[in-house]
Amino acid sequence: MTESLTVRDNRTGAEYEIPIVDGTIKAADLGQIKLNDDEPGLATYDPGFVNTASCRSAITFIDGDKGILEYRGYPIEQLAEKSNFLEVAYLLIHGDLPSKEQYDAWVHEITFHTFVHENVKGFMEGFRYDAHPMGMLMASVGALSTFYPESSKIADPDNRHIQIVRMIAKMPTLGAWAFRHAQGKPYVYPDNELSYAENFLSMLFKMSETKYAGDPRIVKALDTLFILHADHEQNCSTNAVRSVGSSQVDPYSAVAAGIGALFGPLHGGANEAVLKMLRRIGTVDNIPSFIEGVKNGEERLMGFGHRVYKNFDPRAKIIKKACDDVFEVTGVNPLLAVAKELERIALEDEYFVKRKLYPNVDFYSGLIYEALEFPPEMFTVLFAIGRAPGWLAQWLELVQDKEQKIARPKQIYTGPRTLDFVPAEERWA
Ligand code: ACO
Repeated sequence: MTESLTVRDNRTGAEYEIPIVDGTIKAADLGQIKLNDDEPGLATYDPGFVNTASCRSAITFIDGDKGILEYRGYPIEQLAEKSNFLEVAYLLIHGDLPSKEQYDAWVHEITFHTFVHENVKGFMEGFRYDAHPMGMLMASVGALSTFYPESSKIADPDNRHIQIVRMIAKMPTLGAWAFRHAQGKPYVYPDNELSYAENFLSMLFKMSETKYAGDPRIVKALDTLFILHADHEQNCSTNAVRSVGSSQVDPYSAVAAGIGALFGPLHGGANEAVLKMLRRIGTVDNIPSFIEGVKNGEERLMGFGHRVYKNFDPRAKIIKKACDDVFEVTGVNPLLAVAKELERIALEDEYFVKRKLYPNVDFYSGLIYEALEFPPEMFTVLFAIGRAPGWLAQWLELVQDKEQKIARPKQIYTGPRTLDFVPAEERWA
């Protein structure tokens, strides 16, 4: 028996039977509910998509109440502990874990596409000395579409594959160069003998030594952070990638839109905001007055709260462990004490308990990034590099989904109508 919803329109007394599939009704089905044939049908109003599914997806499962996050069915905890970022990227893109041959071929492909066209370098050098690296990343990823014009052939599977490989491979190169640019240091070319995370560290920090060697604990922590950020179903930036991708533009343009969305302080910019907040609080003694400010609505406790996680963010737990590993190498960041005490107090406070506000992935990630000597502007770049496979997996799913259409929401028009235009010379006379 098909499940359905009976809707009675109290304006007309008419009743409608609307099918329920997968716990949803089709918004288009509400269009039949109208006062008369001249009127537009009923629509839903949902700013921020708080209760609207925009797609069917088999990539990432989240149960916010239970704190579950799975990529292609595999729990994030197991992937973070036992897998590595490129294997997770393969899983997200292809839907299954790779065989040994598939894995080796994938790692080889990604590793050997890390170089960018020399003109990309010239293009990046043209930015102002103090350009925000996210702006540089967004622009340079978007610019890749001009270097690979065949990327517009999105119906061709081989073509899609090579663009996906290029994007995952080149993002660290572009991100690292954006970092070096702000420091006035020469850009470092990729080293194909290093792992994905270690090569990234090499492009960031290598100076005159012939070979960069990262501390394995730092390399592992960075790789884990990339895994934790790799996908998060229909969040703001993924929705931007899908929305722009629905116009059938090339994937570089779609991902550039995602990078723009991630730049915002309510999304990927939150870890930068957390660090600024911790610095402003300064010492443990100042926490109670800060918490009061949050409760009075004068402040926001950055790194707390999430649209979907209402008990805990599973990524926050894993990050806390990565924090300990990194601090073993770098020495403890004094702000860690402030963060831990802030978390302890907030988790006991009625205001936060009632609103189900818990630390999210960004609460501790900023501290790790700072310990690794990244300036705050780079934090979101690291997030973007980790998120690239997720954006691309979602884009790939979108372009193969027969149910998808160009993203085009409705609006409720609230402005004036049928005004008479008076030319400027008469209005200003
Ligand atoms: N500090 C204080 N109060 C908060 C916070 C917070 N961080 N987050 C939510 N609240 C309060 C709201 O004021 C609201 O209170 P009210 O019911 O009295 O009005 C209530 O909790 C519900 O919050 P909403 O804003 O409705 O929750 P929403 O799901 O829209 O927002 C968001 C989620 C944007 C993440 C929010 O919690 C926030 O701004 N957090 C801080 C920024 C942050 O850490 N962002 C990172 C998110 S994770 C990521 O993008 C990777």
